[in-house]
Amino acid sequence: LMQHDARWYPDPSAFRPERFGCGAPDLPRGSFMPFGTGPRVCLGQHLATTEMTVIAAMLLQRFTVSVPEGMAAPRPAFNITLRPECPLRLRLKEYLQGG
Ligand code: HEM
Repeated sequence: LMQHDARWYPDPSAFRPERFGCGAPDLPRGSFMPFGTGPRVCLGQHLATTEMTVIAAMLLQRFTVSVPEGMAAPRPAFNITLRPECPLRLRLKEYLQGG
């Protein structure tokens, strides 16, 4: 229900991943808890997020990825690993085996 509260997510049923993108307004703490919290927190959350990573890797094998012309170099953000500060927008082209 929280993720469908129009106070934090205007037009909540619309698919708008940019809600979570760089420069999007900050959301109040606790307004996004897809796996719940507390004693009934989802037991499968780590399996679910691992599955998402594996599915993304499997899907990406079917595409070649390239940097769109004119794209500015990403700014690195230091975490435990180095990652781009903002999500990258890359070009996907279907990978055709043997040609
Ligand atoms: C994207 C995938 C998933 C989402 C968004 C999700 C979300 C949730 C949410 C919101 C709850 C309720 C938390 C609460 O009552 O406060 C929950 C509970 C639960 N989930 Fe998931 N879940 C996902 C995947 C999975 C998977 C893959 C498993 C098991 C392999 C799993 C097992 C459970 C179990 C056992 C509970 C009940 C925990 C309890 O009541 O003690 N979930 N999940």
